[in-house]
Amino acid sequence: MTDNTLHRAREFEARYGPLIPADQRPAYHLTPTIGWMNDPNGFSCYQGEYHLFYQYHPYSTEWGPMHWGHAKTRDFLHWERLPAALAPDTAYDQNGCFSGSAVELPDGRQLLVYTAVRKHLGEDGRTTETQTQALAVGDGVNYEKWHGNPVLTAADLPEGGSPVDFRDPKVWREADGSYRLVVGNRSSDGSGAVLLYRSEDGFAWSLVGTVDASRSQYGQMWECPDFFPLDGKQVLFVSPQEMSPIGLEFHAGNGTVCLIGSYDTSANRFVREAVQAIDYGIDFYAPQTLLAPDGRRIMIGWMQNWNTLSCKPRDARWFGQMSIPRELSIREGRLYQQPVRELEQYRCNRVCYQNVLLTSETNLHRVEGRMVDMTVEIRPAERELYHSFRVNVAKDGEYVTTIRYRPDTSILKIDRTRSGSNADVVHTRSLLVRPQDGQLKLRILLDRYSVEVFVNDGEQAVSVAIFTRQSANAISFDAIGSVLMDVEKYDIDLDRKGAAEDGTSH
Ligand code: FRU
Repeated sequence: MTDNTLHRAREFEARYGPLIPADQRPAYHLTPTIGWMNDPNGFSCYQGEYHLFYQYHPYSTEWGPMHWGHAKTRDFLHWERLPAALAPDTAYDQNGCFSGSAVELPDGRQLLVYTAVRKHLGEDGRTTETQTQALAVGDGVNYEKWHGNPVLTAADLPEGGSPVDFRDPKVWREADGSYRLVVGNRSSDGSGAVLLYRSEDGFAWSLVGTVDASRSQYGQMWECPDFFPLDGKQVLFVSPQEMSPIGLEFHAGNGTVCLIGSYDTSANRFVREAVQAIDYGIDFYAPQTLLAPDGRRIMIGWMQNWNTLSCKPRDARWFGQMSIPRELSIREGRLYQQPVRELEQYRCNRVCYQNVLLTSETNLHRVEGRMVDMTVEIRPAERELYHSFRVNVAKDGEYVTTIRYRPDTSILKIDRTRSGSNADVVHTRSLLVRPQDGQLKLRILLDRYSVEVFVNDGEQAVSVAIFTRQSANAISFDAIGSVLMDVEKYDIDLDRKGAAEDGTSH
């Protein structure tokens, strides 16, 4: 820890980041300038642009002393890299600047709120960690840590709240100009809770109370909360550690949970009405949202999971990527998500097929590629229900990632067992889809290192990272039984705005 810590990180990333060839990164998903990335931080609108910070360790592709990396965008797809914003360089954050968030102050400055981590050697020789909340103020590029840090400490916890697990503040500004933040905490029963704090100016904070708590039902420590109104409901996002599986809804390990309910502001009373997973894939964690000036609530997540870190290409100079930013809505009590509409501007080479009769493995002319936005709609071709349907992507003689649907069970399964990593980790995930007599609609986004599936207009999302070589670019369809299928497929090319219509139909 020295005053030079940030300067050193900025020099390092400026020198070595540009050496990573563009074609060795995703085409339209954000990766770290160099080294390691985890959670999205400070996803917010500042002076007309969208800023995104991230948990960052530039020096290796492993998690290490946490810095904040930084990028900004106008369309959620073209990211401009900015110098690292925060480094662990003070007494109170010498062991890491953990996750947090950002808000624009009325005077035009940007306020960052983050978790400061400090380790202490106890009298018994054991190291303990304390987590406090700290501030930094800046102009969109350079930030100064506030002289009054830390602003929330053990003294600001409710009774029984853990000063060791007290992290990931998400801040916002209310219509009356006052500020709120939610932060994750471990409560006296050992499981997670979300605490709410209030401030008049963004600098002096006081506890309002507990918004909701796991009571060991949805995992243990609740990381990275977010709390926002959406379509007449109130939504609480948490990323729990140590989840136990619940049917096909929640899997073991680090998961993402969306609690939908109502919220009485004056009594700080959140009443749950529905609980669901945010993403049903393998690689998604710690999502954060922003409210765009046009009213859209947009979410981005870390498209990776702590449980599958050994799925890492050997010679990688970067590791960890962000999901496509997703527009959120609530329909019939469920969270829906769709890729940001800005993506549509960069679709080109449209290929369209209708009423393809599928009874065995089929390739369609010009339906291939690794930077793709493809919508597939299927229905039974006969009165008798088909047995199963499959889409194979990122495929060659050796590799394939498969999405399979069985209408009798209504289970959709994604399988990346043969997607370029031999690590012995989870490679499949199954989810229960709302049954619709064998009808199903999938929008599949492919980028060089990922597959994101949006089921039935975004009713469910499924994200996985893949490491398949880029020459594996075939796409095929398969059915046991007979299926009628429509396919609309575009390439994504960020250099070709507005080229969507130059295509062919069959
Ligand atoms: C979630 C998390 C956060 C923490 C950060 C550390 O992925 O564990 O709780 O702030 O990562 O990098």
